[in-house]
Amino acid sequence: MKTVLVLSGPNLGRLGSREPDIYGSVDYAGLVAQVETKAAQVGLKVDVRQTDSESELIGWLHEAVDQQLDVVLNPAAFTHYSYAVADAAVQVTKSGRRLIEVHLSNPHTREEFRHKSVITAVATGVIAGFGVDSYLLALAQLSD
Ligand code: DQA
Repeated sequence: MKTVLVLSGPNLGRLGSREPDIYGSVDYAGLVAQVETKAAQVGLKVDVRQTDSESELIGWLHEAVDQQLDVVLNPAAFTHYSYAVADAAVQVTKSGRRLIEVHLSNPHTREEFRHKSVITAVATGVIAGFGVDSYLLALAQLSD
């Protein structure tokens, strides 16, 4: 069975209590449970992780390259400014693996600084605006 790394960046561990009007009422444990259920349905194994640390996130992307794993990545605020995360993400896609950028909200409907993603240009594709379903749609795509 194929393993997919499902990675979430800073502040996403606070789901449920963090701006529920934008991010919804499901907490991070609930997101993990939904991701694991969907993965089982579509025949994938998932390794689901969250970090507030840029360095740790980059290390996980290196792991995806070294172990040749597809990635679902919600880079959170790193989306908008982290060339270091982008440089790690491009190694995943250039190594032939798929990396889907996901967002719970639709950043384009929000503040100006969220309109730019430095990750999109190096991602295989982007799914945004569907809450936790953004992650589930990405898994469905990676099951092919
Ligand atoms: C987010 C959108 C980002 O702008 C924000 O910094 C986040 C979450 C989302 O999932 O909607 O932390 O990536």
